[in-house]
Amino acid sequence: MFEQTTKRASFKAGIYLLENLTSGMYTDPFAILREYIQNGVDSIDLSTDKGPVDQLEIKIELDPVERRILIRDNGQGIPAAFAQEILSSIGSSNKNAPNLRGFRGIGRLGGIAFSDMAVFKTKADGENVESVQEWDCKSLRKLLAEAKNRTLTFNQVFQKITSFSQNKCDLSLESYFEVTLYGISSFRNYIFDITRAKRYLSQVAPVPFHPNYFSHGQEIDSYLKRNLKHYRKYNIILNGKRIFKPYKDKIKITKGGFDELTGIKFIDLRDDNGELMACGWYGEREELLGSIIKGDDSSGIRVRAGNIMIGDDHLLDSCFREPRFNSYVLGEVHIECDGLIPNSRRDDFVDNKTKNMFYNAVEREIGLPISKEIRLRSRIKSESRTSMVPLRKKETQTNKLPLPISELETKKEEILGDANEDQPDIFFREILRSCKDCPKLTKIISGICRLGNFSQVDINCPE
Ligand SMILES: Nc1ncnc2c1ncn2[C@@H]1O[C@H](COP(=O)(O)OP(=O)(O)O)[C@@H](O)[C@H]1O
Ligand SMILES: [Mg+2]
Repeated sequence: MFEQTTKRASFKAGIYLLENLTSGMYTDPFAILREYIQNGVDSIDLSTDKGPVDQLEIKIELDPVERRILIRDNGQGIPAAFAQEILSSIGSSNKNAPNLRGFRGIGRLGGIAFSDMAVFKTKADGENVESVQEWDCKSLRKLLAEAKNRTLTFNQVFQKITSFSQNKCDLSLESYFEVTLYGISSFRNYIFDITRAKRYLSQVAPVPFHPNYFSHGQEIDSYLKRNLKHYRKYNIILNGKRIFKPYKDKIKITKGGFDELTGIKFIDLRDDNGELMACGWYGEREELLGSIIKGDDSSGIRVRAGNIMIGDDHLLDSCFREPRFNSYVLGEVHIECDGLIPNSRRDDFVDNKTKNMFYNAVEREIGLPISKEIRLRSRIKSESRTSMVPLRKKETQTNKLPLPISELETKKEEILGDANEDQPDIFFREILRSCKDCPKLTKIISGICRLGNFSQVDINCPE
């Protein structure tokens, strides 16, 4: 018999792990606002005894002169007895309730890479103690830059650059969690561009629809509330102004001019077993000719988990016949299943079987029908430019159909292409729309519909 001796190597986490968790994490500095907002809304969700969610808020102040950022929420805060332990745990999280967004225990480190000093202050309700943790980020960068520090452990570095203290404060003060980042690095100064920050937050943060500019907000809210286990919107205030989602009834088109939303289409995305993976909506456009301009911040079907955006406006591009078709529409898909796990950068999901099923379902339920409709509308538009104009002229003289019915039948194939099996109604709708100037057209269409067979219809206008 052999005697097996196993020698356990002692575990060591080195200094550069901290670098990976801070500067290595986010390329877009606005992502740090998203991480602090995510913590704020998780805390608000846990504050069940603080009254309705619309009385709670997250305030963000960007101060370009002082190069300082402050993010403060009045969620539940952290009780004094646990503050040091919680704020000193990295890469583990005590968030185990369903619906909470954070779980990796690294989000609050996002600001470390961009600032000289990061200060976390918190107080819980019914306590007279404020807990404070400070990170000397400038010293961290210095340690990381010097070769002689390469052998330092994670723990040694953490001890060198952080401090923790507790101060007495007024018992009656409401609970809070406040992050202040001082001396934000200048090469990332666009984080102080207030307009840009507002545009980022309006697309990414879990804020409400605008009550005046978007008339479908209530309808969408009630659909999402009915179908999702947890759908909430939060008061997020940037430099004193409330943030709303960017959707509007009137949308600006790249080709120039505007298009209107005529209604909202709701979609359920289900996995191979019929279980709900996500719920979504998109706006039906009156014209659907041309993509929505970038500056509207609304184009593309956006994916949201916990009502916070995952990735950007192009995440679902590959689900459309042509990637650009995604920017013809506006809408959202809200994730409703545990198998879809946002990755740590929150720019996509962790690779797994559910992710594949999700992308397939988006393609099937959203990407393909929309792509077909875009192609159909565009073909009809070019048809009407080439053949409809002279035919219309002729039609007014002879009181005939804008197109002979035999041609209509041929064109049906041509126009619908591969969309005709499942959506014949689009054909009629489109004839109606693009030939709307013909005074007899409505009658003709209804005649065609009644007969249901093109070849039997008299090509003369039914008077
Ligand atoms: N705004 C906040 N309010 C209350 N607690 C917070 C807040 N932000 C962070 N925390 C606490 O700090 C922990 C670590 O936050 P973070 O690093 O973002 O990781 P995660 O959100 O993945 O748990 C959280 O789990 C929470 O306990
Ligand atoms: Mg977090």
